[in-house]
Amino acid sequence: MTRPATEPLPTAETKHEFVEAMFDAIAPRYDLLNSVLSLRLDSSWRRVAAHQTNLKAGDRALDTCTGTGDFACELARWVGPSGEVIGTDFSREMLRWGEPKVSKFPNVTLQWADTQALPFPDGHFAAVTVAFGIRNVADTQRGLSEMARVTKPGGCVVILEFNRPKNPVVAWGYGIYQKLMPLIGGLISGKRSAYAYLPASIDAFHSREELAGLMETAGLHSIRVTDLNFGTVVIHQGLKGNKK
Ligand SMILES: C[S@@+](CC[C@H](N)C(=O)[O-])C[C@H]1O[C@@H](n2cnc3c(N)ncnc32)[C@H](O)[C@@H]1O
Repeated sequence: MTRPATEPLPTAETKHEFVEAMFDAIAPRYDLLNSVLSLRLDSSWRRVAAHQTNLKAGDRALDTCTGTGDFACELARWVGPSGEVIGTDFSREMLRWGEPKVSKFPNVTLQWADTQALPFPDGHFAAVTVAFGIRNVADTQRGLSEMARVTKPGGCVVILEFNRPKNPVVAWGYGIYQKLMPLIGGLISGKRSAYAYLPASIDAFHSREELAGLMETAGLHSIRVTDLNFGTVVIHQGLKGNKK
């Protein structure tokens, strides 16, 4: 079970539209706020997560909930010029703000798609990723099942996501930081409610163990969990196909 939220969150019925409208609204300031709120650590977290995709030159990868395309661009370095990365998102504004960045990478394309209904055939990608996105998908299980479906046997799914630190001292400091998020986010973006949603959605999201269970239900196995940043950021890696 997920923990009760500390801030008002959308209901299961309204979450899809709520999240889409929220990211459309904050898209112009999204990259700036990511850097500020993570103290510019977000790129290094994506780099570590990209390493866990096992991608190699010439592979085809999918980054779902790609937003402005940062993780897709990171994956592009791993697949090289002979490979291909597709970044999908359902916020047209996030994709629009990502286009100038992505245009510097000839092997990356952005495309509109709902993670809960990916427009790709089964087994199409060597790796499928999501960074700070699965928490926002209205139906987590449906999103994960779609990600697993389009992954080829032998490939893997990698999830980079915020979580709650287990160490009580870190949790105490993180609680203070979470209270500052809406203030800083509100000041820079003018959309304070979006940055009140952020800590509330982290509090309400699945634990590491629950998320690993949902990945197994989606058909993945050998789930590996790696804590980053004192356990406030977590990577889940799951493999598709037969266990060795
Ligand atoms: C916090 S942003 C993360 C963006 C990017 N992956 C990054 O690392 O910065 C979450 C993104 O998930 C997208 N999203 C949420 N639910 C989605 C869904 N069902 N289908 C596609 N995109 C979705 C939002 O539009 C938003 O761009």
